Amino acid sequence: MKNLISITDLTREDIYKLVELAEDIIAHPKDYQEICHGKKLATLFFEPSTRTRLSFEAAMLELGGSVLGFSEAASSSAAKGESVSDTIRTVGCYADIIAMRHPKEGAPVAAAVKSTVPLINAGDGGHFHPTQTLTDLLTIYREKGRFRDLTIGLCGDLKFGRTVHSLIEAMMRYENVNFVLIAPEELRLPDYMKEKMKQANASFRETRRLEDVIADLDILYMTRVQRERFFNEEDYIRLKDTYILDAEKMRLAREDLAVLHPLPRVNEIAVEVDDDPRAAYFRQVKNGKYIRMALLLTMLGLSKEVRA
Ligand code: CP
Repeated sequence: MKNLISITDLTREDIYKLVELAEDIIAHPKDYQEICHGKKLATLFFEPSTRTRLSFEAAMLELGGSVLGFSEAASSSAAKGESVSDTIRTVGCYADIIAMRHPKEGAPVAAAVKSTVPLINAGDGGHFHPTQTLTDLLTIYREKGRFRDLTIGLCGDLKFGRTVHSLIEAMMRYENVNFVLIAPEELRLPDYMKEKMKQANASFRETRRLEDVIADLDILYMTRVQRERFFNEEDYIRLKDTYILDAEKMRLAREDLAVLHPLPRVNEIAVEVDDDPRAAYFRQVKNGKYIRMALLLTMLGLSKEVRA
């Protein structure tokens, strides 16, 4: 794999190998601590991030490699008008692999055309976020032990949520996965996504009320209503607190529910839920580092080094 732009660049087999490698890293971290010695990762973040940027950097450091980059466009020559293509060609002279986040949908595709080193999309606007999806998949696998035979509730901003779209694309490839789409009218899943689900014969239903369906779920994937994707502040204020998962709603859920959230959260999960063993979102954060370690090794062609 030269570049990773969308989760659909990966087959089920690719995903299984990455999950297997991440599990091996979790079990034997010392075996991996020198593999990337001499390799450099560039993290180019034109949009804010905590988890994605820092987990990429932690992943490379734990593999014995080095990191360089910037965390905002204002501190790069983009602020002087440099194109993304020129930035990528330049960084390819310094680094062995690039993780890039950009607010413009499609920017990673244009960047990949010019890149001389492997490029990973670390999120492009409301479009794709494949390494978050890999994080979600590793978390589902670790919490449930399988990708098939699951009922997954996706709750909140299903319209702009790039993590939701990518997770649906990944999970609809597995057998007997039922999606419950929980959103207010204004933030429902776009028609083009529902069309994709129909073409894949994926089972789904839509509702506005979390309370009505929470008892049916194996996984509840909460999302933030994203202020930065709204054109109109009034709409954001009206919709931002539509769903708040709290202890009362958790009492309606199964004992073995796993609650995921890509984070950051604002109000959509009450802090009181954090101590519930079913709250998997901070375990999910940790999984993000391990799956990115597996991805870096794979894309650098070093995944066979340990168990060869
Ligand atoms: N989940 C996620 O992408 O978080 P950050 O925006 O903090 O990277």
